Amino acid sequence: MCKKCWFFVIVLIIILSGFTYKFIFQGSVKMSNDSRLAIQLEPQEKDLVLFEMRAFLVAIQQITNGIIKQDMQAIAESARKVGLTTQRNVPGSLIGKLPIAFKKMGMDTHMKFDALALDAIDLGDSEHTLSQLNILMQNCVACHAGYKFELTK
Ligand code: HEC
Repeated sequence: MCKKCWFFVIVLIIILSGFTYKFIFQGSVKMSNDSRLAIQLEPQEKDLVLFEMRAFLVAIQQITNGIIKQDMQAIAESARKVGLTTQRNVPGSLIGKLPIAFKKMGMDTHMKFDALALDAIDLGDSEHTLSQLNILMQNCVACHAGYKFELTK
């Protein structure tokens, strides 16, 4: 290949790596005054994520209610509502704005709800559900301590 072509190939690779780093790892963030990373989102993106957050809270309330009533079926149903399959509607543009650590913690939380749902049915042990809920909620605490949302417009 000619020298010029090589030059363009290399420049292209550098640009692509930059985009990959930005979209997959770094996301769209700024350091904020309260020492959390502020993820920069458009209003509708922020609304979507906060909607999911409130669904998390609803699920936790319903799961604790299920534990008190020893209703393992209700526990599984509530947990499944915030499982990983509910994540299909998240647009790619939003995913690109979330830092990798945030995405990992979010995925892990959804997967832990799925595991809680499966175990509730398989084991039927509400003590076990409670300990799973306890561990899962450490993700809520950790992520809220590290991140917040800010509007780009
Ligand atoms: C991957 C990160 C992450 C995880 C995991 C996470 N949250 Fe959040 N949550 C956030 C961020 C960021 C906000 C916005 C906080 C801000 O801007 O100050 C938020 C906001 C919320 C809100 C406020 C919603 C609103 O309408 O204002 C609730 C309620 C909430 N989270 C519940 C939970 C619960 C319950 C869990 C655990 C099951 C959880 N979250 C797990 C990142 C996370």
